[in-house]
Amino acid sequence: MKLYVCWGTFPVPWPRRGGSWRPGAHPCKKAYDALKEAGHYPEVVKSYGLASLPDVTSGRKEVKRLTGESWVPVLVLDDGEVIKDSKNIVAWARRTRPEAPAERRPAMPTDERPDRATAIRLYRSAAQGYDRRTRALQGYRRRAVERLSLSPGETVIDVACGSGTNFALLQERVGSEGQIVGIDLSPEMLAQARQRVAENDWGNVTLIEAAIEDFDLAVLADAALFSLTHDVLQSPGAVANVLAHMRPGGRVASFGSKSAPRWAVPVNLAVRAIARRYVTTFAGFEQPWLQLQKAVDRLEVESVALGGAYIAWGSIAEQPRQ
Ligand SMILES: C[S@@+](CC[C@H](N)C(=O)[O-])C[C@H]1O[C@@H](n2cnc3c(N)ncnc32)[C@H](O)[C@@H]1O
Repeated sequence: MKLYVCWGTFPVPWPRRGGSWRPGAHPCKKAYDALKEAGHYPEVVKSYGLASLPDVTSGRKEVKRLTGESWVPVLVLDDGEVIKDSKNIVAWARRTRPEAPAERRPAMPTDERPDRATAIRLYRSAAQGYDRRTRALQGYRRRAVERLSLSPGETVIDVACGSGTNFALLQERVGSEGQIVGIDLSPEMLAQARQRVAENDWGNVTLIEAAIEDFDLAVLADAALFSLTHDVLQSPGAVANVLAHMRPGGRVASFGSKSAPRWAVPVNLAVRAIARRYVTTFAGFEQPWLQLQKAVDRLEVESVALGGAYIAWGSIAEQPRQ
């Protein structure tokens, strides 16, 4: 669900040093507070401006498209129903509680082990707009794919492939005679992956809806890509299952966020603020690649993005380790 607001749901910097202002009786704030109190956690879209002025922000334009007017707050439910006016939103919130605890906002990431049920819930909403929000990372994804040293005709597992943001990069390397196997547990992310495959008419992509810990494949892959898969890398069972589906000497590469050195406080704050939308645990955030390292002959790790991310790559042993 999305709530379009102008002000009131977030503190506004106050001209006096260090102060902030959050207007108490603002209609947007009332709508937001009522939703929160009832247990709903809408995605808040800040649509600055005044209704009487031209619609310059994308939020305002969307509000105009949805309601024919420029007034906020406007609530858009998951089924597309649009509720306008603070009073109506407050009334809706008071009579409608979330259907089940499972629909509530997932718990914030902790330092515990990854939680698959939470991940499924998290991506139920994170799937929408995922490609757009992570587009800026495509250069890093490309670098990780390059580290796999793929050749035409090879089989590669795209571990926790999500919406398939890596498929085109992998296609460039394995060609139509190669095979891409994308595995993910989120139906919403996989639906987008499926659409991408259909739109591109890729006949060599197999999609599997499963937890990485549980999937089964009849073939052994030449390579495996772990792109933005922090949760999976913290699950020994998941890493072991991927490696069990790889031929001896196969290659792995990973790209993901990590903690920067302690003194890089702004980087760490920014990285955590973004990552918390996509991971269920911050366990292992110092060195997310450690599980992978255990299985790989020599894992190279390159720190990127001011230390807030990494690219790691290596080959698994030709002979099983004793
Ligand atoms: C940040 S997205 C990364 C998607 C894609 N690899 C990319 O580069 O954009 C993380 C994905 O991991 C999936 N995921 C998390 N835990 C998983 C698990 N145990 N098994 C399978 N998929 C999992 C989520 O559903 C989500 O699609």
